[in-house]
Amino acid sequence: MNNTPATLQFTDAELLGKVSAVDTSRVSIDVSNSVLLTRIGIGNLIAVRGSTEREYLIAITERVTRSMRDELAEDLPEDGEEAELVSVPTDLVRGALIGTFRTVDGDKKNTFKRGADSFPQIDRECYVIDAANLQRFMGILGADFPENERLKLGVFVADRSAEAIVSGDKFFQRHAAILGSTGSGKSYAVALILERAAKLKFPNIIVFDMHGEYTPLADAKNGGFAKRLRIAGPGDLEHPGDDALFLPYWLLNRDEMLSMILDRSDQNAPNQASRFTLHVRTLKQKTLEDENKPEVVKTFTVDSPVPYPIKDLVTLLDTDNTTKGQGKTGPIKGEWEDKLTRFISRLAAKLDDRRYGFMFTPPAKANTYGWLAAQVAQLLGSNGGDGIKVIDFSEVPSDVLPVVTGTLARLLYDVQFWMEPGKRTPITLLCDEAHLYLPVRDDADAVQRQALGAFERIAKEGRKYGFSLLVVSQRPSDVSKTILSQCNNFLSLRLTNDTDQAVIKRLMPDSLAGLTSILPLLDTGEALMLGDAVLLPSRIRLDKPAITPDSATRDFWKEWGIQAPDVAAINLAVEALRSQTRPKTV
Ligand SMILES: Nc1ncnc2c1ncn2[C@@H]1O[C@H](COP(=O)(O)OP(=O)(O)OP(=O)(O)O)[C@@H](O)[C@H]1O
Ligand SMILES: [Mg+2]
Repeated sequence: MNNTPATLQFTDAELLGKVSAVDTSRVSIDVSNSVLLTRIGIGNLIAVRGSTEREYLIAITERVTRSMRDELAEDLPEDGEEAELVSVPTDLVRGALIGTFRTVDGDKKNTFKRGADSFPQIDRECYVIDAANLQRFMGILGADFPENERLKLGVFVADRSAEAIVSGDKFFQRHAAILGSTGSGKSYAVALILERAAKLKFPNIIVFDMHGEYTPLADAKNGGFAKRLRIAGPGDLEHPGDDALFLPYWLLNRDEMLSMILDRSDQNAPNQASRFTLHVRTLKQKTLEDENKPEVVKTFTVDSPVPYPIKDLVTLLDTDNTTKGQGKTGPIKGEWEDKLTRFISRLAAKLDDRRYGFMFTPPAKANTYGWLAAQVAQLLGSNGGDGIKVIDFSEVPSDVLPVVTGTLARLLYDVQFWMEPGKRTPITLLCDEAHLYLPVRDDADAVQRQALGAFERIAKEGRKYGFSLLVVSQRPSDVSKTILSQCNNFLSLRLTNDTDQAVIKRLMPDSLAGLTSILPLLDTGEALMLGDAVLLPSRIRLDKPAITPDSATRDFWKEWGIQAPDVAAINLAVEALRSQTRPKTV
């Protein structure tokens, strides 16, 4: 016989008060037991007796108020005396209704589901959920997810003995965001989630690492589980290592390329764009013919990623720029003559700049037809368990960072898009420091707008193709609204800035907006988990990852007491700055 005890059992000592007002998603409670008030704050759980004995509506407290009210004193005035007025406190608790708990629900016991099934009725009893009730209640929250869906993030702050488990499926399914001020613990949270995912057989997560701080996660000697690649820096051009990743110019579509080299304010910009387009198309077609790909020739476009020699493009543009026209009486000014000069010199400047080497001077093998498939397979394939890939962008010049991230994201997405539906493994792109390359659209320049387009498309359509984003940022107010508003789950760490808090508040359903008031008060490594991956919005103490990212907060005061500046290291750093290459020793 199943004798599971009821999860929620209340005595009169836990009776907080009675329902005094209800609107669609909120309930006001007239507190009769003021002693209990000292035990509750924002974010506590309240059980409101439902329409039957077996049902409670669960509310989360948003506001606790005490106001004074004048009342006639109880002692009746004696003859000739004025009636005496006394001030009595009225305590009110307001809560947001978030779910329904049932002791028995069909053949199940102790169930909790999101959403209130009915409205609470006036005068219903309300109880504080704490101590043993809280412990048992938190226990059933994670237990509802099947074993293979569980992602354990830490423990609940409300009850540290209860594990905080979210649904891994729901968390990744429809985009998520990890937000918090600098030093609040985002990178640690990322490392933790990656560590949990690494336990799975084929975790297809690609991390865009802006500062190279996730390098330890790829250190197999110390238990690392990820594979690390670097966008090639100026030092990798001669003898690229296995981990150097190139992004040849021919992967960029027409608009991405033009966003870098076309100056739209130039009066010849339309001519330049049209000559560029024509020549790129011609050169791509030539490659396809040389490679004997008649099927592709029929349908390819100027945007198709087909290699072509950039030298030939420059030659064709030069010819346009210098060819004279034929008039009736002799040579006249050519149709394109001198119109492409500035375009060609902007292109040449990029070709000469070694910082752009990963794009414009890739090794010969990266300009071959078969290279792309092999490269994508390296990024998306699982090579004996190294499912998680960390791509280090730390040497990419900041002005092209958006194109690089955008092009890579678009390329991976396009491959997933064109893949046979049954063969797709879901992919998540983890975008660390997203404010750097996914800015609010109004603030974006031409290059950033290109990248935004790619990511916004993923945010809008990615779900259908098993492609999701995990956006990480310390400045949510600087991150594209389109992308954030598509996120279904938020792990929000401490956020001290008002504008940033307001962003989260706007993304929350109305009934939960009150909860954001705890955001500035969270401790380092503490987070508010909101969204459909959890049954309840909850305050979580995140576990510390076993392998920590290289992002430790320095102890300024202590270190000034012990560590002398190293002059040799300063010299090396100056040379590194000159060569734009990190010394190999680190
Ligand atoms: N879950 C945790 N447990 C223990 N300590 C933590 C935890 N999370 C963060 N910390 C501490 O806080 C420091 C900063 O964390 P982290 O590097 O994750 O911050 P961040 O939010 O990524 O900051 P930034 O926006 O500057 O990158 C860490 O070095 C670590 O000491
Ligand atoms: Mg960080």
